[in-house]
Amino acid sequence: MPKTAPPRTYRVKSFGCQMNVYDGERMAELLGAQGISPAPEGEEADLVVLNTCHIREKAAEKVYSDIGRIVKEGRRDGGEAPMIAVAGCVAQAEGEEIMARAPAVSMVVGPQAYHRLPDMLARAVEGERVTDTDMPAETKFDALPARRKVGPSAFLTVQEGCDKFCTYCVVPYTRGAEVSRLFADLIEEAARLTGAGAREITLLGQNVNAWAGEDGRGRAIGLDGLIRELAQMPDLARIRYTTSHPADMTEQLIAAHGEVEKLMPFLHLPVQSGSDRVLKAMNRSHTADGYLRVLERVRAVRPDIALSGDFIVGFPGETEAEFEETLSLVDAVGYAQCFSFKYSARPGTPAAEMEGQIAAQVMDERLARLQQALNRHQLAFNTASLGKTCEVLVERAGRHAGQMLGKSPWLQSVHFTGDAQIGDMVRVELAEAGPNSIGARLLEPAAA
Ligand code: SAH
Ligand code: SF4
Ligand code: F3S
Repeated sequence: MPKTAPPRTYRVKSFGCQMNVYDGERMAELLGAQGISPAPEGEEADLVVLNTCHIREKAAEKVYSDIGRIVKEGRRDGGEAPMIAVAGCVAQAEGEEIMARAPAVSMVVGPQAYHRLPDMLARAVEGERVTDTDMPAETKFDALPARRKVGPSAFLTVQEGCDKFCTYCVVPYTRGAEVSRLFADLIEEAARLTGAGAREITLLGQNVNAWAGEDGRGRAIGLDGLIRELAQMPDLARIRYTTSHPADMTEQLIAAHGEVEKLMPFLHLPVQSGSDRVLKAMNRSHTADGYLRVLERVRAVRPDIALSGDFIVGFPGETEAEFEETLSLVDAVGYAQCFSFKYSARPGTPAAEMEGQIAAQVMDERLARLQQALNRHQLAFNTASLGKTCEVLVERAGRHAGQMLGKSPWLQSVHFTGDAQIGDMVRVELAEAGPNSIGARLLEPAAA
């Protein structure tokens, strides 16, 4: 590649899970520390970072179409196309292929190596094409600049990687083994986040409830201990965590749901299928019944908890009867919200080699039936919450004049009209239920 001028503006586009959103923010801060500014809305950036997701085939294919579009749009404006960096899980999984297939890409950087972006950038400016998909022993977090400016609701990655090796999933390969960040580092980052304006922190991990560490006094603690410690921070009003695995729902974490007031009544606990045969073939370490028993214990200590999950339809060999077991589980739980996906065969995973791959039409039909059931439960949950008064953390302005948007404790999107600022915690009465959001009446501004 020819030498180029160092970029003055950047844009980071993140796809996939919340951890990618978090990584995207950290990469933006890193570029900011190099004196590069975010490109103004609607203007082309000198450097585009595509922070990619590899979880399903469609997500991965998107990278190549995005690269093509960026190049084309750059040329249309008559100038040089922006410098392109591909980061995230596709970079990790297919770094070499990206370099071979997409000559417009200058940098490929994996999720555990992005703290090295400034060095890579210096080399790219000299005309080199640079790939770094190492999973170095040093942690990237130590090399990242401190957090400065965040919204009222912020993410904090506490754990990364996965050792579970579900047979359909790429995450253990793209993110590496389970690693917990150090307690002291997390307390410090949380303090920075609240100092920068966060009132709610969502603790992130691929298996966040596998987090383990030592507290300030050297005692071994799990995620519940970290949550209890964070709950002591006066400026922090709300704590959430995601995504958790049923096998790591400890007794203490369940108890925390009944005891820690700042821990919001919401639990995202993916199950994937209601069939024990399918769960076994997926290498999920739980049965449908085991999963339901965990939820029962959580409900016993926190009866109003809103439950959420992830589902895959059309896993290889899934029969109609097995799919119906998933529908029964959905009805047994009564989820507040859920994510559901068609199985996507991922290169290098054991399930991609299994017999009995399911036809696309069958998957479409099952997904439609599942989503119908999930939507019904979501609306029922929202309808059942009408008349409740609760606090809403105001996150942004709505589309209509005077309208503000935020989240209820149960993670419902709430909109209301009234005098409130972003970052306020207000008291509302939930008044009108839609499938995806709730209309509320502002009662009074709650104590700040
Ligand atoms: N660590 C989390 C989430 C991992 S990815 C967990 O274990 O639950 C998020 C979701 O994507 C998964 O829960 C699963 O429902 C879905 N998913 C993962 N791999 C998939 C694949 N190959 N095809 C379709 N959906 C997939
Ligand atoms: Fe993937 Fe399973 Fe690990 Fe979740 S627990 S990230 S689905 S391998
Ligand atoms: Fe996607 Fe990687 Fe997250 S594959 S879901 S961005 S961990």
